[in-house]
Amino acid sequence: MISRVNILVTGATGFIGRHLVGPLSKTYSVRCLVRESSDITPLKDLNVDIAYGDLLVRDSLGPALDGIDLVYHLAGEVYSRRKQDYYKGNVLATQNLLEACKEKNTKRIIFISSTGVYKPATTRTLITEKSECEPMSIYGKTKLEAEGLIRKCGIPWVIVRASLIYGPHQKSVLDRFFRDAITKGKIYIMGNGDNLRSFCFIDNFVGGLILLADKPEVVGKTYILSDNISYTYNKVIETASKAIQQKIRVVQLPSFFGNISWKINSLIGDVFGLFLVELYAIGKTQLHEAYDIAKARNEIGYNPRITLETGIKRTAEWIKSNLSNAH
Ligand SMILES: NC(=O)c1ccc[n+]([C@@H]2O[C@H](COP(=O)([O-])OP(=O)(O)OC[C@H]3O[C@@H](n4cnc5c(N)ncnc54)[C@H](OP(=O)(O)O)[C@@H]3O)[C@@H](O)[C@H]2O)c1
Repeated sequence: MISRVNILVTGATGFIGRHLVGPLSKTYSVRCLVRESSDITPLKDLNVDIAYGDLLVRDSLGPALDGIDLVYHLAGEVYSRRKQDYYKGNVLATQNLLEACKEKNTKRIIFISSTGVYKPATTRTLITEKSECEPMSIYGKTKLEAEGLIRKCGIPWVIVRASLIYGPHQKSVLDRFFRDAITKGKIYIMGNGDNLRSFCFIDNFVGGLILLADKPEVVGKTYILSDNISYTYNKVIETASKAIQQKIRVVQLPSFFGNISWKINSLIGDVFGLFLVELYAIGKTQLHEAYDIAKARNEIGYNPRITLETGIKRTAEWIKSNLSNAH
């Protein structure tokens, strides 16, 4: 009899984690690392074990890793306003996890990094795994630093650079963008909306993550996972409007607003140690962020089937049902 692969997922209660663990548990034996403070409601009806631990408390991680073959390391800091939280949540947390994994002889770690590690593109050329890394945010810098720890940890590793993931249970600025489109019929963009952007629907992303679980040839490799096609903002808005059958009014603000928000964010970062996700997002809307997924498609058979229109429809349905639940 072939023994089942035992998987530990960190960040299982987060946006991506809650979508990953259900499908993963259909094939593998899954344990979720959660904190005492975590809301574990999304995991309650799933066939998964729960292990309590905190990635910032090194000694709490041993029991969670007992008997584990593979770790999906999703936990990280994505939305904090304090710069130091990014270092703790992305670098220190990863370092603690890797030390604990080494002690327990974990056989593979799949680390979820971000396309935020790349140097922002000023042209429409697609970014590949080989493109230059030069993160513009504290988030990207700490994800790149964590990638460095993963590469030299001595445990067989895979790094996934995720583009912007969207779908039900999404958070923060992206969710506000969708909600404004649905509830106010209006969104703001910087510039003329002609710049390219890659999105990835959550189910497409989860499909890619699961493909990495047991392929021996992926060890020591980095993959970008995103949807098949990059769109201009104008095309995204047009598709969203069609998908939700609602007119969306676009308010175009001059591109220099993006530059200003960027400068303000850097300044308050240097002076007060703060990072304002909203200003970061505004600054980014004027850049091209388009990614090439040929490597994942050719080497692991990644096939993100869900189109932008379907993805937006499903996300909008979730937002609408949430709005009515709230009343
Ligand atoms: N969402 C995106 O568009 C996107 C794009 C690129 C890359 N990524 C990467 O994907 C990963 C998951 O993102 P997400 O959007 O799912 O984030 P999220 O919703 O903010 O979830 C973060 C998860 O990390 C857990 N966590 C944080 N600190 C922890 C600690 N000290 N110990 C144990 N668990 C801890 C949280 O647990 P609690 O429930 O206790 O808070 C939560 O489950 C992150 O590494 C992120 O950088 C995300």
